[in-house]
Amino acid sequence: MDHTWPCVLLLLNTLIYCGHSQDLHRASVKIISPQEPLFTGETVTLQCYPSDYKYWTYVWYRDNQLLPSQTNETITISLPDQAGQYQCHGKKTAGRQQSSCISPNHSVRVTAPPTASVRVSPHGLLYSGETVTLQCDISDYTDWTYYWFLNNIQITSQTSKTITISLPDQAGQYQCQGKRTGRPQSSYISPNHSISVTALPKASVSVSPHGLLYSGETVTLQCDISDYTDWTYWWYRNKQLLSPGSPSKTITTLSDQVSQYQCQGRRTDRPQSSQRSVSLNISVTGEFTIKQEGVPEASETDAQATSADPSRCGGAAALL
Ligand SMILES: *[C@@H]1O[C@H](CO)[C@@H](O)[C@H](O)[C@H]1NC(C)=O
Ligand SMILES: *[C@@H]1O[C@H](CO)[C@@H](O)[C@H](O)[C@H]1NC(C)=O
Ligand SMILES: *[C@@H]1O[C@H](CO)[C@@H](O)[C@H](O)[C@H]1NC(C)=O
Ligand SMILES: *[C@@H]1O[C@H](CO)[C@@H](O)[C@H](O)[C@H]1NC(C)=O
Repeated sequence: MDHTWPCVLLLLNTLIYCGHSQDLHRASVKIISPQEPLFTGETVTLQCYPSDYKYWTYVWYRDNQLLPSQTNETITISLPDQAGQYQCHGKKTAGRQQSSCISPNHSVRVTAPPTASVRVSPHGLLYSGETVTLQCDISDYTDWTYYWFLNNIQITSQTSKTITISLPDQAGQYQCQGKRTGRPQSSYISPNHSISVTALPKASVSVSPHGLLYSGETVTLQCDISDYTDWTYWWYRNKQLLSPGSPSKTITTLSDQVSQYQCQGRRTDRPQSSQRSVSLNISVTGEFTIKQEGVPEASETDAQATSADPSRCGGAAALL
């Protein structure tokens, strides 16, 4: 490289830009390939004209800085790092010293790739149990193959513009990106779109009256749901659905029976259901028994109506 330095000094002393003199060979920079616009990741070939002189060497500049390793009439640069303003000139290496003038700047700039973004339907809060559609919108062109990423990992099974996911299992950070065979060959990768699950409204069951329950007695269960008012109340007894109805349910306790009661709200708008309440156990483990024969005897055993969350479900009832 040492030998280039006197050359640089010489050039600095004799910078003659094309346009100032008619006598010199006029140099210019052209982009040979690919066709503009140019995109990130592409390799670009530049050529210095006039190009086919014998005994010429070429001098290249980017943003006014000499590129000492580039001495060919064509150079190859990669984007985006080597974007900039390019100039060149030719220098004779034999015969009488006669250089071309220095070409005007030729701008080699990167055009931003199309942007991608993830659109989610339905809008707003998303609930457990829902199916959600994600669509990848890319700003330009239509012939994309779509790539989807969940938490930074490509979902290899999905290459269409819209995908469907189910919650809560497939919640996470979603990104998409387009690729195509023509230029530009890829879009930006979209920003993360967070798909998170909002808890369904809570339901709880309480029983009245509190306290001791006798076999055959009637109690009323009450279902309370934390949000909204337009619920249809679904009651479950031992996990089996009873007829949907009102927020209160009257039951007659039977002997020898442990029943788990739960309720859940359903509505037409989203969220379309509440959580199912924890079980309220109404247990009858004893009863008055009147023996038809022999000595009448009463068995008295405590039985309880319990709940995993007594504070919410209003405590317990018991049978004496
Ligand atoms: C060429 O571009 C560079 C970088 O923008 C600038 O510094 C220089 O003055 C320009 N030269 C000419 C001749 O326009
Ligand atoms: C210049 O061109 C010659 C012949 O095409 C090639 O062999 C050489 O590698 C090129 N030099 C650079 C620095 O690109
Ligand atoms: C997107 O989210 C994932 C998972 O949380 C994270 O690893 C990644 O860095 C995020 N990417 C961007 C561009 O924010
Ligand atoms: C209710 O009864 C079921 C079945 O016997 C039991 O698994 C559950 O733990 C009970 N729940 C409460 C809150 O006691």
